[in-house]
Amino acid sequence: MRIGIPKEIHAGERRVSSTPKTVQKLIDMGFEVVVEEGAGVAAEHYDEMYAQAGATLTDDVKSLWGESDIVLKVHSPQVHPGLGIHEADMIKEGGCLIGFIWPAQNQEILDKLNTRKASALAMDCVPRITRAQKVDALSAMANAAGYRAVIEAVNVYPRFLTGQSTAAGAIKPAKVLVIGAGVAGLAAIGAARALGAIVRAFDTRLEVGDQVRSMGAEFLELDFKEEGSGSGGYAKVMSDEFIEAEMKLFAQQAMEVDIIITTALIPGKPAPRLISAGMVESMREGSVIVDMAAQQGGNCALTQADKMIVHQGVRLVGYTDLASRMAIQTSWLYASTLVSMLDEMGGDEHFAIDLENDIVRGALVCHEGETTWPPPQAQPVVVATSQDEPSQEATPAAGPAEPKKKSNLGSVVVMIITAVALLALGRVAPSEFLSHFTVFVLACFVGWQVVWNVTPALHTPLMSVTNAISGIILIGGMLHLSGLEGQTDTLAVILGATAVFLAAINISGGFLVTRRMLQMFQK
Ligand code: NAI
Repeated sequence: MRIGIPKEIHAGERRVSSTPKTVQKLIDMGFEVVVEEGAGVAAEHYDEMYAQAGATLTDDVKSLWGESDIVLKVHSPQVHPGLGIHEADMIKEGGCLIGFIWPAQNQEILDKLNTRKASALAMDCVPRITRAQKVDALSAMANAAGYRAVIEAVNVYPRFLTGQSTAAGAIKPAKVLVIGAGVAGLAAIGAARALGAIVRAFDTRLEVGDQVRSMGAEFLELDFKEEGSGSGGYAKVMSDEFIEAEMKLFAQQAMEVDIIITTALIPGKPAPRLISAGMVESMREGSVIVDMAAQQGGNCALTQADKMIVHQGVRLVGYTDLASRMAIQTSWLYASTLVSMLDEMGGDEHFAIDLENDIVRGALVCHEGETTWPPPQAQPVVVATSQDEPSQEATPAAGPAEPKKKSNLGSVVVMIITAVALLALGRVAPSEFLSHFTVFVLACFVGWQVVWNVTPALHTPLMSVTNAISGIILIGGMLHLSGLEGQTDTLAVILGATAVFLAAINISGGFLVTRRMLQMFQK
């Protein structure tokens, strides 16, 4: 299959959807890759580098779009300035587009793609589940942008960030306040701490407090009880009273801190307004605010998107292209998530749009002439609140809920049959068997309760824990294999061998997963 890599035409965009390194990977996967001439220049990836990696270069944009089975993009399609044609109109009939699409804001693009019967996978709609981490382009970009926000702040901050004792006098470290400790906020905390600043952070989701503290920052809390977590680990819109209390805290902080980095956002909503003009004016001369939510209207009342303005000596940075400012790195990160997505879709040989695949289905926004966004609602995730009540927002956003009516009759019949079978077994089985059987049933019940009550986000660490249990099973299986009390029983040997085989798979899998998890935290 042919993959097309067009040059990004969005004003100021420096990233490219495939780097020479990832082109090589796509070719190894069996794809043929065509790259538009100059596509990677702004990210310092030159045409000869792509040619060396095995790509074909072309200056014919129309044929690149029209003859590629899959087109990889960074930005959502828009009107090509040179050709005057919308990119979505140029896609091959029945072709596939993968990139950031933002379907909620871009109905017109979906309509155009549907006219071409194209399939489109929006990288901004990839579900935030453990299995999808390698395809999570939004987090990869937000992490880079959070880091860059600190660098931009330091660039216009006219003082040191770190404290110093010099012959001329002592310099106090700068104080940085990070509002919103999601992916971008945590990256900003890490970067500001590394530069020697004193960092404080605030978030409506109290569960991020430990992450903030583990990075050496202070987590600010309000004396106001309101659950901040919504569906899928994202934030929810807070009450007016909460926002008011939060703004009082920021008003105090604005007078104390030197740099504020705001990242507060609820997906699909305008950014909450948290910093008033008065707060900006109360900051000392030379202070900086970087408003990462500028594109969604800004967390600060005075932010101007894509601009750096100075208001009464305070610099307000509203750049919306922070990730693009690190184009070499972010192109590679983004391109790698695209390679993982194509791998998830079967690579060249088995490429398919599998509607049963939760990652593919979550990201699929149009398919075979139909808009397929929002995806059907997943099973409701019940998030217990501090009062142990199910949260109102506990269902993933999107799609109408299917009413489910379950009859209890079936389970009552199954319970009665099981009880009768157990009674019959109790009458005929030897007492030794019964005691082992009781332990077995209790172990199944406890195991089921433990595993089913763990939230999906914790399944990976759970797998590591089950290693220990598998170890016990392995020893039991080995004892049976060697023959208990000197006697060998064929059935016991077969069962022992099966137990050893299955437990060994679980143990080696557990070790692999644990290793990968630990590598994620190693520098
Ligand atoms: P995220 O959804 O992981 O984090 C947002 C955080 O804000 C969450 O932790 C949430 O709990 C918190 N929050 C929501 N309402 C709040 C409130 N009222 N007070 C305090 N905290 C609140 O999002 P992520 O990926 O970390 O991105 C953060 C922001 O950065 C988004 O606005 C995103 O669009 C923006 N962004 C900007 C870029 C740029 O170039 N300017 C590039 C990448 C991301």
